[in-house]
Amino acid sequence: MKSENPTALPPLTRRSFLHHAAVTGTIAAGLSAGLHRRGYSANERLGVGVIGAGNRGNSHLDALKHIQDEDKSIELRAVCDVYRPRMTRTAERFGIKGYMSHLELLEDPSVDIVTIATPDHIHGYQALDALHAGKGIYCEKPVTHWRQFELTKQLAKEVAASRGVFMCGTQGMSDTAWRQIGQLVREGLIGQPIHAECGYFRVGDWGEAGMPIDDPNARPGADLNWEAFLGDAPQRAFDVSRFFRWRMYEDYAGGPCTDLFPHILTPVMHMMNAGLPSVAVATGGKFRYSEREVPDTFNMLVDFPENFTIAVLGTQGNDFQASENRGSASRVPVIRGWDGALTVSNDKIIFTPAHGSNKEKQLFDIDRGENLLHFFREFIGCFRNSNPNTISNMELAYRVQTALIMSYLSLRESKVVKFDRQTESILL
Ligand SMILES: NC(=O)c1ccc[n+]([C@@H]2O[C@H](COP(=O)([O-])OP(=O)(O)OC[C@H]3O[C@@H](n4cnc5c(N)ncnc54)[C@H](O)[C@@H]3O)[C@@H](O)[C@H]2O)c1
Repeated sequence: MKSENPTALPPLTRRSFLHHAAVTGTIAAGLSAGLHRRGYSANERLGVGVIGAGNRGNSHLDALKHIQDEDKSIELRAVCDVYRPRMTRTAERFGIKGYMSHLELLEDPSVDIVTIATPDHIHGYQALDALHAGKGIYCEKPVTHWRQFELTKQLAKEVAASRGVFMCGTQGMSDTAWRQIGQLVREGLIGQPIHAECGYFRVGDWGEAGMPIDDPNARPGADLNWEAFLGDAPQRAFDVSRFFRWRMYEDYAGGPCTDLFPHILTPVMHMMNAGLPSVAVATGGKFRYSEREVPDTFNMLVDFPENFTIAVLGTQGNDFQASENRGSASRVPVIRGWDGALTVSNDKIIFTPAHGSNKEKQLFDIDRGENLLHFFREFIGCFRNSNPNTISNMELAYRVQTALIMSYLSLRESKVVKFDRQTESILL
């Protein structure tokens, strides 16, 4: 579909993305050689640009403004959104530049790092563009959409090759409990890992109440770039509900599996030291909210070649928490090994030995809970030091997203989904 805006910038379609990638090929080559990033002096402020001026983009700006005011390590410089009223409102609120295209924002030399808070299906392309432009990247979860396995793989390979600094927006990873448990697992406290259970329970319909329609009369044109919103999703005539309430639709979202589970599966895969999965199977569906396309209930089982299973349960129909909660709506993970199990309760990590083990029950203090400001500070510090090893890096995001995509496809196609590690491909 053609945009009604004659001055519209190149839309983010698959075709234009490829063209763009070709055009920026030289920059990409420079990136691989590590030539893209100049050094930053300790006192120099890093310029921040935020892509997506909706709910989450504004939360990023609020948190980053706090850091700007507190330690002056960064300065908010620009925001971009394909919907002008949100872009203008946000730019005015923070006193920063406003763009209608992320490509314009990426060309701004005053921007060193970007955060990406657009709908799920846009993340991967914008992250690649930001990588090619030499920016540090904080990209919201899920790192891509469930249709975009190849894009996920490409992004992982390019980030690794360029040693770009990438952090996925799973802020729960700032909770040191998960790093501490991961360390205990690596040290052999539970023996050979065999099973992990976790989940995410939150009530929400994502319809009228969840995602309000700012303006029922909004139409594509100079103030709304519908083609850039569509990206590589199926081309459709403009629909105001799809634009503002995109989480309800499969073309742009995936329900709890892809929206909520990254928050809990990321720490669990980190703790289990899990690589790419071998097989996934899922159940669930629209058990409460019939007006949407994506499931509201999702249960997935994923096996790994190292001989362990990770189970993730979740519904948006009831948010009861059976045990002490750590993180807003996540079910506390239990990590089991041959010799014992690890879990958390309040501010303690609890190790319980397996029957027959000669190990003792142990409690460990948790250093620090979840904290978005800490998480952003870690990302900023990594970028300043050209350190690609962020706590929620692209390599981990690739493994997590592969498990989520396989599970989503399992439910959608009613199939057991396998992964071929030789060819790094999903077998349906
Ligand atoms: N980490 C968390 O806890 C958390 C919380 C909420 C949302 N999120 C994630 O943040 C992302 C955004 O969610 P949200 O609730 O802010 O959605 P939202 O709809 O409120 O905001 C998305 C914004 O992106 C804009 N947009 C769409 N296509 C664009 C494009 N091509 N270029 C630039 N802007 C574009 C939209 O106009 C909209 O203003 C989602 O991927 C979501 O999963 C993460």
